[in-house]
Parts: sequence; C-alpha cells; structure tokens
Amino acid sequence: MEIIIQPSSQEVCSLAARIVAKLVREKPAAVIGLPTGGTPRPMYAELVRMHQTEQLDFSRVTTFNLDEYVGLGPDHPCSYHYYMTENFFNHVNIPEKQTHVPDGLAEDVPDFCRHYESAIREAGGIDLQILGIGEDGHIGFNEPTSSLASRTRIKTLTQKTVDANKRFFKSDEIVPRHVITLGVGTIMEAKRCLLIACGQGKAVAVAAMVEGPVTAMTPASALQFHPSVVLLVDEAAAGRLALGDYYRSVYRNKPDWQR
Ligand code: PGA
Repeated sequence: MEIIIQPSSQEVCSLAARIVAKLVREKPAAVIGLPTGGTPRPMYAELVRMHQTEQLDFSRVTTFNLDEYVGLGPDHPCSYHYYMTENFFNHVNIPEKQTHVPDGLAEDVPDFCRHYESAIREAGGIDLQILGIGEDGHIGFNEPTSSLASRTRIKTLTQKTVDANKRFFKSDEIVPRHVITLGVGTIMEAKRCLLIACGQGKAVAVAAMVEGPVTAMTPASALQFHPSVVLLVDEAAAGRLALGDYYRSVYRNKPDWQR
C-alpha cells in the first residue's frame, strides 16, 4: 500500500483528480469505480474543471458507483444517483449509458445485484476503484463484520453510519437503513484502488485499515491484501498512524521513475 499524506483535504482531492486524469489520458476507455459522500466532492469539482479547461475527455469512460440507498430513486436529492448527476455526470461529456449507479428502486434486489456484477465483468473489470472510508472502517457500505469475500448485495447500515449521514438529509427525513453496495470481494477485484480520507474523524479507521490486523471488523483492512492500493490522506486523517514519519519519508524520497 502506498500512503501519501497531504497537508489538507483540498490537496488530497486535487491529487486524486490528477491520478484519475492520468488514467483517463492513458486509457480513454477506462472503467472507474466511483464513491459519493462529503470527501470526494472537491475531487469531482477538479475533474469537471479539467474537463472544461484542459480538454479532459470522458466520452469513452465507463463508471460504476459503489452504493445507493434502497428506496431512493435518481430524482431524490439524497440519492447517490442524484449526487453523481449534480456533482459530475451533468458537467462532463460521459454518455449516460456508460454510467452505472445501483438502482435504489430495484424490485428484485438480489437479481439487480447479480446484473450489476455481470455489467462490471462485461465492461472488463474496474481499472481504478476510488473509495472513501467510514469512521467505522467501512468501504462502500460494507459495515463491520461484512464478509471480506462479499459481493454486491443489500446491507443494513449501523447506527453510527446512519448518524454520520444525517447531515445530508433534511431534519424531518428518515435516513434509509438499507443500501445496495459493491462487496468487499468485488472491490478487491479492481485492478487498482485509490482510497481518500480527510479529517480527524477518520484517523482511527485509517490507522486500523493500514496498521491493524486484517479483520472483518474493519472491512477496509482487506485492502492490505490488494496488490495496488494508494491511500491519500490529509494530516488530520493521518494523525493516528504509528509510522506516519516513515510514510512521509517514503513519499519524499521516491525515485523519479516512480513519480
Ligand atoms: P464521507 O463518507 O466522505 O461522507 O465521509 C465516506 C464513507 O462513508 O465511505
């Protein structure tokens, strides 16, 4: 795992956007796994800016989103589909048919999940899976005790995650407890993973993911077994890493050919 510590969340997101842009320039038909949530918003804003001012071309890219609330359709302002439309899809030249977000209104959820997995396989697999991390160590919405071999399926959110996500909902709205999420096993099949985390609230989960044991209690720790992971964190999220100075020195002293 490559651990890159940046001074602020803005720098985390602009470096994440540069990594995505490099992939899209090198492989115009790349398949990218996308996250939602508060953390990646500035990354999407930067990618939109690169599209508008630097001709970054998304016309051949295919995307698969990580998760969605069960019961919320694309028009619901708190759905992840809506988030993607507002923050990214509406502002770049990606054809709608090449974007995929789990269907929160699917009538047959297990059947939908099987189709989602097949669509990823038919697209050739995910080249770069971008991830956030929950304060409880989840990736996607794979909450603690999720099987590390799990596939796309329905999950029930922990109270901690429901509380963390309340900020995106109106005060009188109920946060859905059920979600569809890519499984940990599905995420592990991506060719590369890029996990971004910002803020002190993520520091314990980040340390558990990188330096703790691999355990279903911290689903993100499964990434220790993935051959190609970049973890991009700000100083606050890196605050509990025991080997923080080592990771900073590795990054400072990278051979030129690795940059
Ligand atoms: P956040 O969510 O970016 O809103 O903190 C990350 C996550 O829960 O995976």
